Amino acid sequence: MLAEINQLNYNVMKKNKVTIYGAGMVGSTAAYSLIASGAVEEIALIDINNKLCQSQVMDLQHSVPFWGYTKVKVGTSADVEDSQIVVITCGSAQRLGETRIDLLKKNASIIKGLMSDIFKYNSDIIVIMVTNPVDILTNIAIKMFPDKKNQIFGSGTVLDTARFRFLLGEKTEVNPTSLHAYIVGEHGDSEVPLWSTAMVGNTPLDQFHKLSPEEKNIIFNEAKNAAYAIIEGKQSTYYAVAAGIVSLVNSVLYNKKTVFTVSHQLNGLFGINGVCLSLPRVVGANGILRDIEIAISPEEKAAIQQSANNLAQAESTLL
Ligand SMILES: NC(=O)c1ccc[n+]([C@@H]2O[C@H](COP(=O)([O-])OP(=O)(O)OC[C@H]3O[C@@H](n4cnc5c(N)ncnc54)[C@H](O)[C@@H]3O)[C@@H](O)[C@H]2O)c1
Repeated sequence: MLAEINQLNYNVMKKNKVTIYGAGMVGSTAAYSLIASGAVEEIALIDINNKLCQSQVMDLQHSVPFWGYTKVKVGTSADVEDSQIVVITCGSAQRLGETRIDLLKKNASIIKGLMSDIFKYNSDIIVIMVTNPVDILTNIAIKMFPDKKNQIFGSGTVLDTARFRFLLGEKTEVNPTSLHAYIVGEHGDSEVPLWSTAMVGNTPLDQFHKLSPEEKNIIFNEAKNAAYAIIEGKQSTYYAVAAGIVSLVNSVLYNKKTVFTVSHQLNGLFGINGVCLSLPRVVGANGILRDIEIAISPEEKAAIQQSANNLAQAESTLL
């Protein structure tokens, strides 16, 4: 009973405010999706391009009468003080022919600058990293604030998992929300599909709809390379990642304890230390609530370890 009252007080007293760094394609689409979802009271949008930020905010404000009331404003870092969540989408987007690792040096210095500000304003804040390369930037943020480890996580393979489930849904003719299939590891080239534990409802995928190794390869490669294909046609990807951001924000704001493949630092699991990568984790009001021990095949474990090695090597280029 007391726990219920405390939870109620928690929801009533805290303002459902989100500060978004970056008013580009991802940040503004996330803001629009949050307005449409009705989940937040206030959104502060911050961008070094002030003119862009002002224009995005005006446009977003004019959508509010259609969706219901959300306050939208041009923000500053001071907005972090009464926010519950910071979503980081600022930096350079992945351009055609550019790998996520190419972006590293550019975006690492931006993130370091922001992180020092964020916890200065609000030590309880939850930080959702979206800027790429998301695993390495999440690790940089956690290394700066190790005692805030569980409050910082990256969107990781949340998007890749959604792409995977969409494609599996098309193949099996089952609603993707009933497909428990994950992509883990790096958000990028070395990511790993967990075929061995893929389930339709609680029936193993292989039992429900047997896919040949070729069919599995086609589905996985389409999910993995989706960003390259989309960028070729329209320079950036933003709708699906924005939907993922809304789901993550909701899970934190309303303590939904949903399982997401978010990027977080590993300290010993699978022999991996001090590297951020995605595995299924429970996300709630305090950020990462717990890890989930997953039963995987030896090949999948080796692929996750390889993914961790790739990330550690890429991160070492910053030293
Ligand atoms: N993790 C994922 O699943 C995922 C998916 C899609 C995109 N992304 C990443 O999200 C990021 C944003 O993509 P986008 O398409 O919105 O790019 P974009 O270029 O449209 O927007 C980035 C914005 O960041 C701003 N910015 C740069 N430095 C800043 C700073 N120091 N402070 C505040 N604002 C700053 C820029 O002015 C720009 O408006 C990229 O790194 C992209 O790769 C991640």
